[in-house]
Amino acid sequence: DNDPRINTIQSIIRVVPDFPKPGIMFQDITTLLLDPKAFKDTIDLFVERYEGKNISVVAGIEARGFIFGPPIALAIGAKFVPLRKPRKLPGEVYKQEYDLEYGSDCLEMHVGAVQPGERALVVDDLIATGGTLCAAMNLLERAGAEVVECACVIEIPELKGRDRLNSKPLYVLVEYQ
Ligand code: PRP
Repeated sequence: DNDPRINTIQSIIRVVPDFPKPGIMFQDITTLLLDPKAFKDTIDLFVERYEGKNISVVAGIEARGFIFGPPIALAIGAKFVPLRKPRKLPGEVYKQEYDLEYGSDCLEMHVGAVQPGERALVVDDLIATGGTLCAAMNLLERAGAEVVECACVIEIPELKGRDRLNSKPLYVLVEYQ
């Protein structure tokens, strides 16, 4: 993509070597949030892509999908549904486990938040191995929703997370090489 806004966004995301452990190049989006113009451009790029696409649900993944998802949802007139880490949601939940490098984690979504046939967009800050987005899509599909696309600010192409999404479209603004 040649949109000049994307180059600026990429340059503002801070990369922190060896965090949270040796060998990991941590993609720190908090520096993007400190720049109101770049943060707004980030949201606008997603809104320009998704407005008018009949999306009624934006599902955001804890924690950083809770930063980018809600402004997109408000701008396109969709509801926002939080997909949370275990034991945070008080109502009846769908649960989906997924594998991490060591061990596993789980995402939960409230039963009744999404109706069968709704068109959903899944939002997170970053796709690495794709396990998190895959679990998120499973939750929405179990509720009968159609996942139209997944959207992230950053992709780490080296980790081939895209291959785990069962050919569901993934849109990213920035690829970290
Ligand atoms: C990060 C990131 C994504 C996920 C991507 O979250 O924000 O949600 O990892 O990794 P994957 O594609 O390999 O599944 P993290 O696990 O750091 O959780 P947090 O946002 O709650 O800190």
